[in-house]
Amino acid sequence: MCGIVGYIGPREAYPILIKGLHRLEYRGYDSAGVALINNSGTLSIYKAKGKVQQLEEFSQQKDISGTIGIAHTRWATHGEPNYQNAHPHFSMSESIALIHNGIIENYAVLKEALIKKGFEFRSNTDTEVLVHLIDFIKREENTDLCRAIQLALQQVIGAFAIAVIEKENPNIMIAARKSSPLVIGIGKGEFFLASDATPIVEYTKEVVYLNDNEVAIIERGKELRVVDFMNSEKSHKIQHLELTISQLERGEYEHFMLKEIFEQPRTIRDCMRGRINIEGNNVVLSGVLDNTEKFKNARRIIIVACGTSWHAALIGEHLIESLCRIPVEVEYASEFRYRNPVIYEDDIVIAISQSGETADTLAAVELSRSKGAFIYGICNAVGSSIPRNTNSGSYIHVGPEIGVASTKAFTGQVTVLAMLALTIAKVKETITQKELEGFVAELSQIPDKIEKILEKSDKIKKFSRIFTYAKNFIYLGRGFSYPAALEGALKLKEISYIHAEGYPAAEMKHGPIALIDSDMPVVVIATKNNLYEKVVSNIQEIKARNGRVIAIVTEGDTQVSKLADFCIEVPDTHEYLDPLLSVIPLQLLAYHIAVTKGRDVDQPRNLAKSVTVE
Ligand code: G6P
Repeated sequence: MCGIVGYIGPREAYPILIKGLHRLEYRGYDSAGVALINNSGTLSIYKAKGKVQQLEEFSQQKDISGTIGIAHTRWATHGEPNYQNAHPHFSMSESIALIHNGIIENYAVLKEALIKKGFEFRSNTDTEVLVHLIDFIKREENTDLCRAIQLALQQVIGAFAIAVIEKENPNIMIAARKSSPLVIGIGKGEFFLASDATPIVEYTKEVVYLNDNEVAIIERGKELRVVDFMNSEKSHKIQHLELTISQLERGEYEHFMLKEIFEQPRTIRDCMRGRINIEGNNVVLSGVLDNTEKFKNARRIIIVACGTSWHAALIGEHLIESLCRIPVEVEYASEFRYRNPVIYEDDIVIAISQSGETADTLAAVELSRSKGAFIYGICNAVGSSIPRNTNSGSYIHVGPEIGVASTKAFTGQVTVLAMLALTIAKVKETITQKELEGFVAELSQIPDKIEKILEKSDKIKKFSRIFTYAKNFIYLGRGFSYPAALEGALKLKEISYIHAEGYPAAEMKHGPIALIDSDMPVVVIATKNNLYEKVVSNIQEIKARNGRVIAIVTEGDTQVSKLADFCIEVPDTHEYLDPLLSVIPLQLLAYHIAVTKGRDVDQPRNLAKSVTVE
């Protein structure tokens, strides 16, 4: 979703800002813009609908000089993606420029009041209200930019991360946040600002994560100052980034998504490192062990998440209920936060989020915390908002995920959930030592087994071409494979724009079977487990109606291979860990179909990587 970049220092700002926007492209956006105070003292804004490249083309031949600037990628909420609605937005006298990520919920009331005062609006955005309000307060109160911003933000309801510069003062940039992320990079005599650390890491590893309701006063040649909206001084902690540039580049791969699919053997090993011992027979998840009593006495576990993370949560539900005998509920964070849920003080709420910034998941965390529940985060982005708002948690440690369609984060989340369930089971003694060792040994072998599946990428690529004609797909699975089927369907629709539905295989008879004809591809996860024979019957039912079956089977399967049109074999593993393997061919299938259809795999239309608005 919207991306913010800012720079102030001795260097030319424009190249840093543009490179930063490219680094943020993965978040998803539909227009881009930049504001610079040029060496001549002019405050210039250049904007373009479309990609950052269009912005670069537009800015050619323009004055792009200046050592202070802000830049933005916009993901449209209020008003269509076009030149007028793109950020930065100017104040009426064109002396202030502002960029914004988030939503100003009371913009309509504020706008009406400003129109009455004679302000004219050039865009349909909620953001433009803010720049006019700041301008108005600054003149009315005869105060400086920072104070005007503080006073304006006191009137604003909603979520925001903003950055503001003004023509009269090329030595200062003001940034502020509430519920939307902002990171400040501290270099030698220079500062960088961004929505996440990816645009900053090549210049400095020293960063400050701004907290909610904080304003950063970023002044040339001075120390960073952080204050709140009432102007009280706030302390800030400088943190060291672990991120490296190579993690942000595609290398030899055609797309980030393919790179991330192929990284999974390594990322799962990274995720297990230090948690599963070298002998592969014990698991130690410190987030659980540090809170043993909480987990032992938990009345219930509620897992909140969105998108792919929600699918991982469904697998977590199976794992925890099966291994730990604690009741688990899985909730869409967006529904949970608004449905007045019953939350007990002895509940544990687990929030799963790759980005750690998803607005709905964050709100669900805040709601659960206010009801006294213990909150556990399972996140990827270190230092993001959700892990900073939880009581404990585990990072999945899979490195930055750039492709909008989540792949390695999903397998990282499921791996952490497996380790979490095993650690709780050990603590609660709901598992024997022998069973535990068996599971851990199986888990340790998952990366090697994924390597074997990845060797089939070319085979999947070949037959995926046959299915590019399809307008609809059905994905079926049972038990642990049902969430994997949902995830396979989500991957396909996200990046190929083919409509795809995931269903529990036995539910097919209650509706989806009506859709099956010779045009309908049905992907069935039919790996060996105690429901195998039942899934084979479902495949028979599909074939009896001329459906085309792509089956994911266990190596050596002979029964399904006789029925299915195409089979992809995956190595055998424990049923509980099967989704970690069966999802890999589904990721590859979606990827190859989307590439054959010529889709923008890494930045599919309308989608955002980090959904920081409701
Ligand atoms: C967006 C992304 C998905 C992701 C979901 C939840 O929709 O495109 O890939 O699964 O948000 O994101 P989170 O960062 O909370 O896991």
